[in-house]
Amino acid sequence: MPRFGGGVLAASGLLIAASACSTLKNDSSAQSADGRSRPSAFAVAAEGNPAATAANHNDGQSVFRDDTFGDEYFWGDTLQLHLAIAGSAHGGVGPGLTPKQALAAGLKVDVDRLDKATVDAIRGGKANLDDPATTLALLKANAVVGVHAYYSGTSMTPTRIGITCAFCHSTVNDALTKGIGSRLDAYPNRDLNVGAIVAMAPTLTPFEQALKLDSAALRKVLHSWGPGRFDAEVNQDGKAFRPDGKTAATLIPAAFGLAGANLHTYTGWGSMPQWNAYVAVTQMHAKGTYFDPRLNDPAKFPVAQRTHFYDVRSTPDLVTPKLAALQAYQLSIEAPTPPANSYDQAAASRGKILFDGKATCSRCHVPPLFTEPGWPMHKASEIGIDDFQAMRSPDGRYRTTPLKGLFVRAKGGFYHDGRFATLDDVVNHYDGFFKLGLTAEQKHDLVEYLKSL
Ligand code: HEC
Ligand code: HEC
Repeated sequence: MPRFGGGVLAASGLLIAASACSTLKNDSSAQSADGRSRPSAFAVAAEGNPAATAANHNDGQSVFRDDTFGDEYFWGDTLQLHLAIAGSAHGGVGPGLTPKQALAAGLKVDVDRLDKATVDAIRGGKANLDDPATTLALLKANAVVGVHAYYSGTSMTPTRIGITCAFCHSTVNDALTKGIGSRLDAYPNRDLNVGAIVAMAPTLTPFEQALKLDSAALRKVLHSWGPGRFDAEVNQDGKAFRPDGKTAATLIPAAFGLAGANLHTYTGWGSMPQWNAYVAVTQMHAKGTYFDPRLNDPAKFPVAQRTHFYDVRSTPDLVTPKLAALQAYQLSIEAPTPPANSYDQAAASRGKILFDGKATCSRCHVPPLFTEPGWPMHKASEIGIDDFQAMRSPDGRYRTTPLKGLFVRAKGGFYHDGRFATLDDVVNHYDGFFKLGLTAEQKHDLVEYLKSL
């Protein structure tokens, strides 16, 4: 019997406690919740490509959704984030995290991992969304997207908690209610306030030591990020703020529609497996291997010197054996198609002609990849913006962003830091910078085309 589960949850009308584990759906072999079929890469694997056999074995989709790669020792044992979520009433510390607060921080709940009684309780307004015990029950059902808890025995309070790629790179379709629905892998979660969630941790000593900041200053940095943003370089270069005083965190990008693209991240840090290993080991703090002599540069990456992030070795290595499967799955995720009624089709057809012609967009955004085949990197001066973020990366340039599925990443704005609130702002920027001389109607058509991608 869970220590507090039955009583609290029955009283709150949420009935998952007893059945959570047994009803947890194993969806790793099913169709994705969003209707995408099994990754085609695995069909290739079945035909005996030795590199892809490893992919088949490990199943990249479940790696993407559920694998913490051993980072629970960091987020759990070291930072004790699970104790802040549980709250003192459930063996943790502080008030605990209620589902309402979790949803407000942008965390998402995968409805397909909840049993019918729970779904009905939420639908009927009978689930107690003001009780941290309900959050613990959702965690035990493995239904909080990108957060995976570990348990000892039947306790409802986790012994540790870890994060997965889906934490930042998935959202839900809000089918049940806002924040609760079917999973949408690789959509950026532009609601997720990563910094505020990390700042909940009872101790942040490793970050304080790495960045040489006291607790208050570090928490100020974390709270400066805001929804949909994360700074994947601050623990290498220590630059938490831009020269204008705004956060140096970037928007979480789309992780779909990337097959065929050579370089990844806004500043082209490397190939997909390079970046995957980088994030897993140096950002999620997983147990893995990461080697990157570019980071062994005391002037550019002083924090990486202290953390030794240019050469990390862990035993066991829980990341490297999964890189092939993870990549195969990511490459299989296509960008979503905008609903036909979400843009003006006639205007979009005119916009395409401009995109490929007068507006010169396709010289960099080459269809159908919408980035350059080859080495798609540009100096800041080529696109008319400052070079702050570019200079934080090894190459010192910005990568041409693939443009498919723009319609699901409008929240938070466009460009790496969301400096352009709307597509109209983006087009106006290019019109001015490239002196395109577009009329108001042509700008409109171009925007409709972007919405159709
Ligand atoms: C805490 C949030 C967070 C987590 C967790 C996370 N990412 Fe990311 N991801 C980001 C951010 C922010 C960027 C952009 C970084 C930049 O450009 O400097 C990014 C960039 C990427 C890109 C590049 C996309 C492009 O446009 O080329 C890929 C691919 C990616 N992440 C995959 C992963 C994988 C795989 C995992 C799990 C191993 C993961 N990420 C975990 C936040 C996250
Ligand atoms: C010289 C190469 C180049 C040309 C020409 C160019 N772009 Fe870009 N584009 C880029 C780069 C590089 C970025 C990434 C900027 C950043 O993130 O700060 C980008 C980003 C974008 C984005 C933002 C995507 C996102 O998710 O944040 C849009 C939209 C876009 N471009 C549309 C256009 C349109 C429309 C045109 C033609 C008017 C155009 N681009 C011309 C290189 C180019």
